[in-house]
Amino acid sequence: MSERIDLDAHGKAPDAIKAWYKRWQRKQSSAFNASPSVIGCASNLEEDHLVRAVIEPRLSDIGKVFGDFMDGHLGAGDHVPTQRVFEVKSLPGLFIYPNILPEPLQLRLLDKLLHRDLSDPQHQTNVHLHYDVPYGAPRPHTQGKYISFFDPVARTFPVKPKTSHTALNVPKMLDKKLRWMTLGGQYDWTAKAYPASPPPPFPEDVKNLVEGIFPMKAEAAIVNIYSPGDKLSVHRDVSEACAQPLVSISLGCEAIFLVALEDGPAYSTSTADAGSAVTTSIKGDNSGHGKLRTAVIRLRSGDAVLMSGEARYAWHGVPRVVANTCPDFMRSWPAAAARASVGTVEERYEGYRGWMAVKRVNLNVRQMFADVAVEGEGSGADDDVSAAGKGGEATSTENIA
Ligand code: OGA
Ligand code: MN
Repeated sequence: MSERIDLDAHGKAPDAIKAWYKRWQRKQSSAFNASPSVIGCASNLEEDHLVRAVIEPRLSDIGKVFGDFMDGHLGAGDHVPTQRVFEVKSLPGLFIYPNILPEPLQLRLLDKLLHRDLSDPQHQTNVHLHYDVPYGAPRPHTQGKYISFFDPVARTFPVKPKTSHTALNVPKMLDKKLRWMTLGGQYDWTAKAYPASPPPPFPEDVKNLVEGIFPMKAEAAIVNIYSPGDKLSVHRDVSEACAQPLVSISLGCEAIFLVALEDGPAYSTSTADAGSAVTTSIKGDNSGHGKLRTAVIRLRSGDAVLMSGEARYAWHGVPRVVANTCPDFMRSWPAAAARASVGTVEERYEGYRGWMAVKRVNLNVRQMFADVAVEGEGSGADDDVSAAGKGGEATSTENIA
């Protein structure tokens, strides 16, 4: 069931959770490669002491959803996932969809997010906070669309600092500076709220893809772009005015994803697993409770995680993106896997060949409002935020690197 937890967005994570996160951040890669407490999250994920398999009936028609997203170009040989998803035993409501997105679809999703949506001036990015971001009007070769920032034409566009920020150009912006972009509801990191003004429409094809797979409405998204060394501090996402599930899709390099709840008065529902091996007991913290229920998940390109029920408001973060783990089929993006022929659209992106090899992209999708009932909602998340409680609701999310 969905717990209505304290929504104080300025609340800091309990010390025990911060300490646990720090321990994982300091670990050598070899430690989490070998550890039996890390949920592997591969296509061969099997039921064990950490996860239970669940059949998700919504996935019976997934081939159609994928086909629509690919304009019918999903090959017959392309893998279509099974209906099996995995629920984390220690955190009911936390579901893993291993390897849910076929490879060609992952590439097309990157194209849509980073060529099309990034070059749409309606979508804010962290760069906008300090720079005037330049947009290139459509050219004949872009078929009516804005120019992708990865297009050679955009290389020399001026990225002008608004205040005393260091000089920037488009290649540097893409390689180093770009950290997030918002779709749909444009979350305002300064005000810590969604603005009252109507948001730009959520990109329709991405919306149909997400809603075709998961039991929620895609109304706002943060696209996180991780470069080597980037992490995401422990936070919980509480700015949305409803408790519908949140969906996180991973592309590119692998990540260590930590999720935790501290048992105590705020989480008074005890579960059958409360005393299991996955309950971590931390002594000497000053939280007053000392019992954490935790999950460590290794997220690979094409995996998705759904946070629902009590896990919807769990503390979570990404202490590590694992170097050299971008899958081969994606490493050359935005250039084509094989050297593209002269004059093709793909050939225009040769200058950024391998950009994706060191990156991780996370599409983090939220439903903002509870006014529309979601059919087939299986995880029991209820829409129990009172209208009075949501004005100017803020979050402790720290996506700004
Ligand atoms: C977020 C988030 C997780 C990830 O954007 O709020 O938790 O895997 N992202 O990047
Ligand atoms: Mn989050």
